[in-house]
Amino acid sequence: MIGVTDLDSYLASFDGEPGYLDWAAFGPLSPAVRSEAQGDTELLGTGRRTSIELVGDHVREARELVAELIGTDAAQVVLQPSTTYGLMHAIYGLAGGLMLGRGEFPSLTVAATRASDAFGSLRLQWVEPADGFMTPDVVRAALSDDTRAVAVSLVDFRTGYRADLSALREVIGDRLLIVDAIQGFGMVEADYLAADVVCGHGYKWLRAGRGTGFAWFGERALERIAPVLSGFRGIDGDLPVDAVPAPSASAQAFSISGPDTLAAARLATALREVVDAGVGNIESVLSARTADVMFFADRYEVPVVTPRDAERRAGIVTLEPAAQDAAPLAASLANHGLTVTTRSGRIRVAPHVGTGADTLRLFGDALAAFSSARVW
Ligand SMILES: Cc1ncc(COP(=O)(O)O)c(C=O)c1O
Repeated sequence: MIGVTDLDSYLASFDGEPGYLDWAAFGPLSPAVRSEAQGDTELLGTGRRTSIELVGDHVREARELVAELIGTDAAQVVLQPSTTYGLMHAIYGLAGGLMLGRGEFPSLTVAATRASDAFGSLRLQWVEPADGFMTPDVVRAALSDDTRAVAVSLVDFRTGYRADLSALREVIGDRLLIVDAIQGFGMVEADYLAADVVCGHGYKWLRAGRGTGFAWFGERALERIAPVLSGFRGIDGDLPVDAVPAPSASAQAFSISGPDTLAAARLATALREVVDAGVGNIESVLSARTADVMFFADRYEVPVVTPRDAERRAGIVTLEPAAQDAAPLAASLANHGLTVTTRSGRIRVAPHVGTGADTLRLFGDALAAFSSARVW
């Protein structure tokens, strides 16, 4: 049973300075992650085998926690240096048609382009929805007999649109569904088992720092994706010397060399906090925080491109001010001590569950100041 106190202590663990609204870019590390990292660093300095093994055991723990959040078995989860590494393992092993949005984060678009250039067997099927939302209808309309896989972000890094994985599965039948979950993992409930590959990284919303990537490969993915980038750690058993065995039949095939055990310790600690607080609980608080951001945007008539439906967004709210308003709005936010991401005339505001009333007040003040100086 998840107690309210677990959520309360999770909320109370946000100890950063007010004004931070850039969780979609980088998540300031949680206190528990910081102290675990310090402790484990000391353990790795002792030269005691038991201490080294103790830190190494966080790899197992992190895989188990990722599996728990996905609803699967830890054997199908493999740690990665980052999201992009996991996605590259999946994409390089594909053949046939791969559908993806032009507006996806470059982890997907670059990997897909390089893989298709390198192997003539992969054909890219680009889709370009006007609003950037990879909806089930957009995917259905673009499917062809050649489509073997669809790659999509769980939460779009530009618009904050949250994909509906169950609906996408219904549309694509038994084709592969590859999901970049970095912008939502642990923050919103998602039907991951409707997908075949889920990749993420703990350095944003999970507050674990960089190096804490992970990937899940389900049964269908393991059958159909060739472990093209498999390294010496991608085998079953010990170090393969004097022989080169076949890659493992499990998700471990999608490994290159040994995992960073300190990163695994940070990831495990961060995931434990999320599991204890409960993803459903986190989602409802996060939804209230994004609604707060939208409230101020509406009050000061700044257009929002992120869906209003709470089920179709996570922690990102993207503002799209009129062209002449973008620079003054960005300046007002900066002058009020707020950290956001400004890109191509849009302003991405990303609060977390621990974003306090003080930060929201600053946000409201920044919009009010911008609004009073605005020339209509
Ligand atoms: C949707 C998305 N995918 C991938 C990444 C980067 O992935 P990584 O650094 O884990 O490889 C980002 C970073 O902003 C992102 O927003």
